[in-house]
Amino acid sequence: MSSRKTNSLIDLISLEKEKISTLFSFADLISENKLSFEKGFGKTGALLFFEASTRTRMSFETACARLGVYPLLLDGKAGTSLEKGETLEDTVLNVAAMKPSFLVVRSGDDLDLRDVARKLSMPVVNAGWGKVGHPTQALLDAYTIRKHLGTCEGQRVLIVGDVRHSRVAASHFELATKLGYEVALCGPKDFLPSTPTVKVFSSLKEGLEWASVAMALRVQLERHAIEYSLADYREQFGFTKKNLQSLSAQALIMHPGPINQGTELDSDILQDPRCQVLDQVSNGVFVRQALLHSILVEL
Ligand code: CP
Repeated sequence: MSSRKTNSLIDLISLEKEKISTLFSFADLISENKLSFEKGFGKTGALLFFEASTRTRMSFETACARLGVYPLLLDGKAGTSLEKGETLEDTVLNVAAMKPSFLVVRSGDDLDLRDVARKLSMPVVNAGWGKVGHPTQALLDAYTIRKHLGTCEGQRVLIVGDVRHSRVAASHFELATKLGYEVALCGPKDFLPSTPTVKVFSSLKEGLEWASVAMALRVQLERHAIEYSLADYREQFGFTKKNLQSLSAQALIMHPGPINQGTELDSDILQDPRCQVLDQVSNGVFVRQALLHSILVEL
C-alpha cells in the first residue's frame, strides 16, 4: 500500500498511538510558534463540505493557509452539479480528478467515505461523516485534555447528551482505548446507545462527581421527536451553574460546538474558568495543521 493511502484519516482505529503522539508534539510546536513553514508548496487541498460547518471548515481553511496550501472549497450543495442530479460520490471523484494533494470531506451517511477513499490515490480526511465519526474533533479534544491536564491517560471523560446521533462520541470511543482515557455516558435513555459498551450514569450529579472532563453534546433537535421539554432537559442534563457544582474545580468543561445555549450549556458557563470551549477551537487549527503537514511531507 502506498504512503498516500496510509495517510487517509477516515477513523481512529487505524491511527497508531505513536503517530498521534507525533501529531500532538508537532501541534505543540505550531501553537508555540516554534516552527516556520516553507511557503509555496504550490499544492492545493480540496475541502468538500456537503453539510453545514463553521469550526471544522474554517479550521481546515486556516490550516491550509498557514501551510501555504491553496484550499479549494466546495461549501454546501447549492450552485454545484449536485443540484442537477450528480451523485455525491461522482462529485468527489471529479474533484479528485483535478489532483488536489488531499481531500477533506464532510458529508452525511449517504456517502460511503471508506469506499471513496479506497478508489482515490490521494489521502482523504474525514471532517465529520454522518453518525460514523469525526476523528479530527476527537483528536483536538484529546489534545485539549492533554494540554490542560498533562495527559489523556487515566482521565475520566463524561459525555452528556445526544450520544446516539453523535459522530464525535463515536470517534471518542475509538480514541479512548488508544490514549487510555475512560468514557462514560449520561443523558435521557432515548439519547444513549441501546446497548452501551461503557459505564452509564443515570444521574448527572453522580457522573460529574466521577468526571475529570465533562463534555456536553449538541442536542440534535433535527433528529428527535423529543417527548419532554427542553426546559426539563436543561434541568436534568444541562451544564448550568447549579448542575456543575458537582464537577471538581480542576476538571474541564468541553463542547465540540455548535452549542444550543440554554439547552445543553448555559451561556454564562462559557466564562467558567474550567470551560475550554473556545480553546478547543484554537487547538483544532494546530491539530489539523499538524495532520495536513504530515500528509504533505509524505507525498
Ligand atoms: N464541532 C464541529 O464539527 O463544528 P462544525 O459543525 O461547526 O464544524
